[in-house]
Amino acid sequence: MSGMDNSLQSLIWKGDRLDLLDQRLLPEEILYLPLTTPEEVWEAISHLKVRGAPAIGIAAAYGVVLGSRDAATKEAWLAAVTKQAEYLATSRPTAVNLFWALDRMKAAASTIAGNESDLERCKSALETEAVTIQSEDEATNKTIGEHALTLFKDGMGVLTHCNAGGLATAKYGTALAPFYLAQEQGMKLKVFADETRPVLQGARLTAFELQQAGVDVTLICDNMAGHVMSKGMVDAVIVGTDRVAANGDVANKIGTYSVAVLAKAHGIPFYVACPLSTIDLETPTGEQIPIEERVAEEITEGFGKRTAPRDIKVYNPAFDVTPHEYVTAIITEKGIVHAPYEENLRKLFHE
Ligand code: MRU
Repeated sequence: MSGMDNSLQSLIWKGDRLDLLDQRLLPEEILYLPLTTPEEVWEAISHLKVRGAPAIGIAAAYGVVLGSRDAATKEAWLAAVTKQAEYLATSRPTAVNLFWALDRMKAAASTIAGNESDLERCKSALETEAVTIQSEDEATNKTIGEHALTLFKDGMGVLTHCNAGGLATAKYGTALAPFYLAQEQGMKLKVFADETRPVLQGARLTAFELQQAGVDVTLICDNMAGHVMSKGMVDAVIVGTDRVAANGDVANKIGTYSVAVLAKAHGIPFYVACPLSTIDLETPTGEQIPIEERVAEEITEGFGKRTAPRDIKVYNPAFDVTPHEYVTAIITEKGIVHAPYEENLRKLFHE
């Protein structure tokens, strides 16, 4: 079978627990972790068992449900929602979808509390909000994919970095959505997946999910991107993002900036795909986006093999910022946005 019909879901809500696909183990092992507490959700986000901007937002929303369900009064329930949302917000700093989802859960709880006197009905309405965040993400990504596909033509080579696919979202992904839709429509695209050092989201996740779906995907090391571009094998680049600033600067997995510079040098369009929930108009430019730094071991002994001298100094930023000048277009569920981003991103929220 090909296509997304038998794709793995990153998050499955079971009513009393969250079954979370442990992405650290992919592609070798498929294991769902039954999470029942916000602490377990926090740990899963922080340790990249679930990762990708929309997916961590969805996981955190369920974390709030899990952390507030035992409250005995409405006041205690509201207090628990706020407390757990604040706690889960400390799990990772860069992807704004995390804070967006938690803010949405807090706002929903306060509206529900205003309209509903029965505590059990309050809890159930908040659970519905989390489920809705997940189902909306799936629909949004499909629309993003449809818009993105209009930029591609049969036979094109398209390079992507990190994993902005079904695994990083509820389904379809953002940057990978057009590949699935192209395949459904019989359009042939040749995808190049950067392996994405140091955690290898490209090799372990993008190559895996595209291969599973029968998409034509070729894995390359990050340092081969310039070479494949210079050989004329790449007609476009498409990536996801963790946060877009108001001026169109884009934070995404470390290495994205280098790909954008290479694309510009080769006259290749550089596209960014994301839902509106990833656009942060409160952050004026990329300079204000908090960039997560992760442990040195990801570089010195990733996947259990020591590959660097002991006690070596290490710098391990998990994300970088691509200045908006390098971004050809941002593809959202509301359509394709071009420069000037400052003006055109803002318009999206008022249409
Ligand atoms: O550290 P990760 O794996 O969470 O980084 C993920 C990315 O950089 C993705 O490209 C981004 O979150 C977009 S996912 C649709």
